[in-house]
Amino acid sequence: MISLGVLVSGRGSNLQAILDGCEEGSIPGRVQVVISNRPGAPALGRATAKGVPAFTVEPKQFGKWPGCKVPYEQELVEVLASHNVDLVVLAGYDRLAGDTLLNGFPMRVINIHPSLLPAFPGLNAQKQALDYGVKVAGASVFFVDLSVDGGPIIIQGSCEVHENDTVESLSRRILETEHRILPEAITLIAQGRVQVHGRKVKVLP
Ligand code: GAR
Repeated sequence: MISLGVLVSGRGSNLQAILDGCEEGSIPGRVQVVISNRPGAPALGRATAKGVPAFTVEPKQFGKWPGCKVPYEQELVEVLASHNVDLVVLAGYDRLAGDTLLNGFPMRVINIHPSLLPAFPGLNAQKQALDYGVKVAGASVFFVDLSVDGGPIIIQGSCEVHENDTVESLSRRILETEHRILPEAITLIAQGRVQVHGRKVKVLP
């Protein structure tokens, strides 16, 4: 059983997919703690509804940007470590992870992004995909490094782009893919089937 800590900022539908997967047993793990950088994030309610400890830790509690970044992340590491977290999952977390968080959990921080990376990193990935005119979109789960959405890719899932898609309709379709591949990536890691070789991730059968 892998112990998970999930960082969130908003709606929390990916967190819900993880909580449900753990409850149903499709993910061999348990969410030990959920932390939001935004007070009142709906994701916090999803955690408490399942009896999972949920906290808000805001960067501004630790002073002004950028001085707050290190003490803010030190607090994240402390809360995660005190809940015996093995793997940190960024699930709709809207901040860039820094050295302090990544050194606290080396190669143990993963993120989900709503595009087929390396296409469309950063903000508004679904709009970027529509504006570019791609015919296939999707989502990626990757190990976080200091780059923006550039770490080694664990798993990707694709979906069609329809001619009449809006950002909302495409986002909904991508989200269904996200809810499938994020639990799958966590399961592969929990099963010890994920090896990282430089940029490349090998998934053992
Ligand atoms: C998801 O689409 C996730 O891929 C995206 O934010 C949304 C969060 O939804 N994350 C990023 O864009 C990170 N670069 P959720 O709160 O319902 O899981």
